[in-house]
Amino acid sequence: MTKIIAFESSADETSVAIVEDGHIVLSNAVATQINSHQRFGGIVPEVASRHHIEWITRVLDDALDAAQVRPEDLDGVAVTYGPGLVGSLLVGLMGAKTFALAHDLPIIPVNHLAGHIAAANFNVPIIYPALALMVSGGHTELVLMTSENNFAVLGETRDDAAGESFDKVGRLLKLPYPAGKTIDEMAHRGQATIKFPTAMAHEDNYDFSFSGLKSAVINYVHHAEQKGETIDHNNLATSFQNAVVDALIGRTRKALKDYDVKSFVLAGGVAANRQLRDELDVLLSQFPKTTFIPVPREYTGDNAAMIGAAGYWNFKQHIFAGLDLNTNPGLDF
Ligand code: KG4
Ligand code: ZN
Repeated sequence: MTKIIAFESSADETSVAIVEDGHIVLSNAVATQINSHQRFGGIVPEVASRHHIEWITRVLDDALDAAQVRPEDLDGVAVTYGPGLVGSLLVGLMGAKTFALAHDLPIIPVNHLAGHIAAANFNVPIIYPALALMVSGGHTELVLMTSENNFAVLGETRDDAAGESFDKVGRLLKLPYPAGKTIDEMAHRGQATIKFPTAMAHEDNYDFSFSGLKSAVINYVHHAEQKGETIDHNNLATSFQNAVVDALIGRTRKALKDYDVKSFVLAGGVAANRQLRDELDVLLSQFPKTTFIPVPREYTGDNAAMIGAAGYWNFKQHIFAGLDLNTNPGLDF
């Protein structure tokens, strides 16, 4: 049995987890700092790094206590080294290096995006070849995996990420940051009364674009304000969310038709969205040979358990780093 301790601090969550064999979560301590960023309407990098420094040792203690694991029982230290905010990443990286040095453990460098996808293993083991839709605050990508830890990007967003469009529309509606969950709930209560465009629906590729949709929503709201009309925010949320989900479903359908995959993974913060999960359920029922493996909701947002899951892939392939491991804020697959 392989026990990996994992550190994650790429954005506004400080998290340490202990994961066994890449799929059994022994503990997953997460400290979120969302409250400190809400009044700014987004993450303030300097504030984020200070919070990580304050929290990292407490979160580490919590993870070790909750799992009832001693450092000498561990086999490696996984850590997110990118993508993310450089000042935030550095705190987790320093924490991981210090722990590894103190307990003579190997350092396992982990890509945050791979972590989001690997969290599907907390549901059922991913079956290969697999197609993954990674939808978060910073990324929107369709990824083909022919085997464990092997990623080929089929398509990605050309401008805003899906989660970012939720957050920007939320800002327009004066909702607290991040707005995805709130818009999801509002959309459930509203009606699709407005037809917003689905970008690139007819193009022959797997790319996404959400900035046009964001502008269409902003124009709609400003136009209504100028005319003194009141807008039903729930209906606006439903109409906006429909357009986002349509775009994600359309590209996924095309990829599922073009690639004969055994499973389909839904990952990233936006994977918590109810309408997206429901519509993917329906879509996947048309592809009976493909198993739908959404990341369990509690692991869709940023957390260290997912870094432990992806760290296990690297561990098995002997992908280790030295104490000179640096952050890579712009890392992709
Ligand atoms: O993966 P994540 O926790 O952080 C990044 O690595 O970006 O994703 C956060 C994003 C935010 O944009 C947030 O608004 C969005 O995920 N999100 C949602 C929902 N829950 C979180 N978007 C739509 N529906 C949700 N239920
Ligand atoms: Zn993330």
